[in-house]
Amino acid sequence: MDNLRTFVIAMAGKGGTGKTTVAALLIRYLLNKNLVPVLVVDADANANLNELLGLKVERTLGQIRDEMKTAVPTGMTKETYIEYKMQEALIESRGFDLLVMGQPEGPGCYCAANNLLAKYLEILTKNYRTVIVDNEAGMEHLSRLNLREIDILISVSDPGPRGIMTARRIADLTTHLDVQVGKKVLIVNRTPDGLDPMLREEISKSGLVLGGTIRQDTLLATYELKKRAFLDLPSESVAVQDAQAIFDALIK
Ligand SMILES: Nc1ncnc2c1ncn2[C@@H]1O[C@H](COP(=O)(O)OP(=O)(O)OP(=O)(O)O)[C@@H](O)[C@H]1O
Ligand SMILES: [Mg+2]
Repeated sequence: MDNLRTFVIAMAGKGGTGKTTVAALLIRYLLNKNLVPVLVVDADANANLNELLGLKVERTLGQIRDEMKTAVPTGMTKETYIEYKMQEALIESRGFDLLVMGQPEGPGCYCAANNLLAKYLEILTKNYRTVIVDNEAGMEHLSRLNLREIDILISVSDPGPRGIMTARRIADLTTHLDVQVGKKVLIVNRTPDGLDPMLREEISKSGLVLGGTIRQDTLLATYELKKRAFLDLPSESVAVQDAQAIFDALIK
């Protein structure tokens, strides 16, 4: 990872495999390594990464896009106005900021607003060392962000052959988007101890590069139930340990 350019990491994978969990573990890792500032973009319409980060969402970009349909206050250019409005959606925390995309637009195209948002995002991301994008299943939401390059696309899968094939299909969807992907890696999540040799073979046949495995960790449910941030997970957590080994090898 060089210091000159923003490094973009995006999550992919089918529903419930652990994309948001891995994103939170990655943010924890980057903060601990002081690879900051980090911009976290929650591109899931049902945003919930904020909960794992211990933050409350007041405004989403979707809400702001809708508000922009109204007139710009007198004495303000449209650009100044949008910049001012977008700042309202940026949730600032220690070492990272969070931007929540919110619901996609309804019928009708607010094309002017969308173009302004895309332009603003492009400028904004340049201020950060790393950008982490959490997605919902499928990849079409990435196009809303207008990202041209993704350095690492992390596909998360459950430890089963069908999960691996789905991860492969979803990772392949990026070819239809106007986005360049540097590296695609697979993380197999919620594994029992170790990876079944047959599954390992399935992965190598799929053509996906195995980034590593993260074990099932009962501490995660405890933290979720207590509404504690995953950023505060202790280093004894097996998920934290496994994630650290993966990211050490992946982010250099
Ligand atoms: N390694 C793990 N050990 C134990 N529980 C886990 C692990 N990884 C994820 N989970 C749990 O699995 C559930 C789903 O995880 P998560 O929300 O991260 O998935 P997701 O892929 O982001 O889902 P969605 O597609 O709905 O956004 C959560 O309750 C989470 O705590
Ligand atoms: Mg999620």
